[in-house]
Amino acid sequence: MTDLFSLSGKTALVTGGSRGIGLMIARGFVEAGARVYVSSRKKDACDQVASELSKLGECRSIPADLSTEDGAKGLAAELAGRESALHVLVNNAGANWGAPLAEYPDSAWDKVLATNLKSPFFLSRACLPLLEKAARSDDPARIINIGSIDGLRVPLLETYAYSSSKAALHHLTRVLARQLAPRRITVNAVAPGPFESKMMAATLDRFRDAIVASCPLGRIGEPDDMAGVAIYLASRAGSYVTGAVIPVDGGISAC
Ligand SMILES: NC(=O)c1ccc[n+]([C@@H]2O[C@H](COP(=O)([O-])OP(=O)(O)OC[C@H]3O[C@@H](n4cnc5c(N)ncnc54)[C@H](OP(=O)(O)O)[C@@H]3O)[C@@H](O)[C@H]2O)c1
Repeated sequence: MTDLFSLSGKTALVTGGSRGIGLMIARGFVEAGARVYVSSRKKDACDQVASELSKLGECRSIPADLSTEDGAKGLAAELAGRESALHVLVNNAGANWGAPLAEYPDSAWDKVLATNLKSPFFLSRACLPLLEKAARSDDPARIINIGSIDGLRVPLLETYAYSSSKAALHHLTRVLARQLAPRRITVNAVAPGPFESKMMAATLDRFRDAIVASCPLGRIGEPDDMAGVAIYLASRAGSYVTGAVIPVDGGISAC
């Protein structure tokens, strides 16, 4: 059973691994035995996380801005210079923007769609040669996209571009799953509910009690809740799962 969920011998890249949900996943992967690369725009934050997680196992930093295709290609090229194969790609980096309908700016759509939707597409494509080198019939390479319950049901806050980007990312997950299955690469999405992070800080400050009250399991998500689902999807345990969108939300989206 330990072997079933082990990531020993696997290499993983976690975008947005410098904090929040990405850091929860990166830490879980390192503890499960993977060599983990964390990436985000801020070099100091990536370096600090790599240094901290290296006390638990293997973690390295490759800073990159993923808001453009060139940024995604650059990250994949840098990784290809260091690794001969990539077993797990986690497309987690994301951005949010809330504003009233009448004021919701064009620039918000550009920023949010570029980061949340286009970047997982371009980075996945740029990483395909490395993923294919890790792909096996009995243990495929994995792409894990971090969506949101806001892409499953309509959020209360006015985050037009964000919730649309996440619904689109869930569907892109299914489309890529079909295309990449013959190449022995699985593509799944995790749709988190509320987890502590910089992105969620203002929302939790204002609405924590209401969010907890609306959650059937009566709490905010914990780091192990996110690490657990990501380790399942990345390990041999998740080998036969592709095209799935898994809510990890204490039951919020189901009720
Ligand atoms: N927290 C929640 O409750 C929740 C719920 C549902 C879904 N999610 C999703 O989970 C993911 C992580 O969110 P989070 O809550 O952990 O937010 P967060 O704390 O704000 O983390 C976002 C991460 O993405 C990186 N990032 C942002 N823009 C980037 C860019 N252009 N290029 C590269 N990296 C970039 C950030 O680092 P830099 O600033 O250094 O670039 C940071 O590491 C997102 O996709 C989010 O939509 C979160």
